Amino acid sequence: MSKKTIHPARVVAGGVVPPGDKSISHRYAMLAGIAEGSSELTNFALAADCHSTLACMKALGAEVNTEKSKTDKSLVRVTGHGLHGLKSSKRALDAGNSGTTIRLLSGLLAGQNFRSKIAGDDSLNKRPMKRILTPLREMGAQIHARNENFAPLEIFGGRLRGIHYQMPMASAQVKSAVLLAGLFAEGDTSVTEPARTRDHTELALEEFGVPVERQGLVTRIPGNGEIKLIGRRIEVPGDLSSAVFFIAAASLFPESSLHIQAVGLNPTRTAILDVFARMGASIQMLSLRSAQGEIIGDIAVKGAELKGGVIEGSEIPLVIDELPMLAALGPFTEQGIEIRDAAELRVKESDRIAALAENLRRMGATVEEFPDGLKVAGRSAGKLRGAVIEPHGDHRVAMAFAVAALGAEGPTTIRDAECAGVSYPTFYEDLARVAE
Ligand code: S3P
Repeated sequence: MSKKTIHPARVVAGGVVPPGDKSISHRYAMLAGIAEGSSELTNFALAADCHSTLACMKALGAEVNTEKSKTDKSLVRVTGHGLHGLKSSKRALDAGNSGTTIRLLSGLLAGQNFRSKIAGDDSLNKRPMKRILTPLREMGAQIHARNENFAPLEIFGGRLRGIHYQMPMASAQVKSAVLLAGLFAEGDTSVTEPARTRDHTELALEEFGVPVERQGLVTRIPGNGEIKLIGRRIEVPGDLSSAVFFIAAASLFPESSLHIQAVGLNPTRTAILDVFARMGASIQMLSLRSAQGEIIGDIAVKGAELKGGVIEGSEIPLVIDELPMLAALGPFTEQGIEIRDAAELRVKESDRIAALAENLRRMGATVEEFPDGLKVAGRSAGKLRGAVIEPHGDHRVAMAFAVAALGAEGPTTIRDAECAGVSYPTFYEDLARVAE
């Protein structure tokens, strides 16, 4: 297992180009795999998670080729054989560490005329799946799960009927699993969300030619008789959730000036920028353009005195992946940071509330842990000191503490540092290039 030592920095400056968006890459890979003809996906995420999705689509009969484009961005070509073109995989599908892979693919697999088995690594096999089993079974799917909630999942594909699903929780993965199953169902499928979540599936479906009706929190797609997806060329925006580690790093030092290029700025993802702005960060969005339904732009960040504050309620699902970074910034803020209504963090790639509290304490922070969040004391509680960080195999925990380490006294060692590759394989190189 690799270790990484991070030394304190004085400034974060220069430019960084975060890798392609993980959420969007999963969706483009899956839809391209059930489209007719070839799709060219440029700036496809380097993330190990998205390569799990590509491997699954390949095992299901889509042709997948990975190369570098002329501009040196990663380019993935996926050739599908139409909505009913997938084939049974001889081996169990491996979703690796990726919740998005297993939950979204389960929706696709429920509508096939064959049986599939899908599982992941130890962490993924402990994460709850009931949230997708309930609506998919309502659509007529037969699925076996370990202890009725966990992978391995055995999915007996078959005829599905469209439903209206009132989601009990705000989850883009659950919404997407139902909509993807809906592509194969008889009759319309619609989903009502209790609160807005990322809408990459809806936008991607439209781009691949599916008519999607959206009204407030309701999304509807027509039944299978009316659906045909067409392969296409499409660009993946840079990953804002990865860019956030650099926004945080630059904010730490008064002299910082960082330009983050070509980042996805879909409004269902940018609540994190509102949180930063509210805390006093200096962020500017520049050069906005639209890219196949998504929005791409640059972000300029300067150092700032962060105020801190409380993050709770309906804001939580919109910033769920950025909460590890926000919590780790707590000791650098004036008032500290309190996160509530975020019990979901306990069933992510690790129990993130416990992992954050443990590692913040290792660095000397004052932390109170709650069932649904944590409260991290601000600057007056003292400066962080370098420590050994145990990320518990969680990419976002590893990266959050690598950033906190820049502002600590003395060096910090991140154990199992390579777990960052789940979303951002070149993270430490990119960080070292801008942090002096
Ligand atoms: C994701 C949705 C979120 C997020 C995850 C990616 C997606 O999960 O935390 O990293 O791509 O749809 P939930 O849908 O469980 O909130």
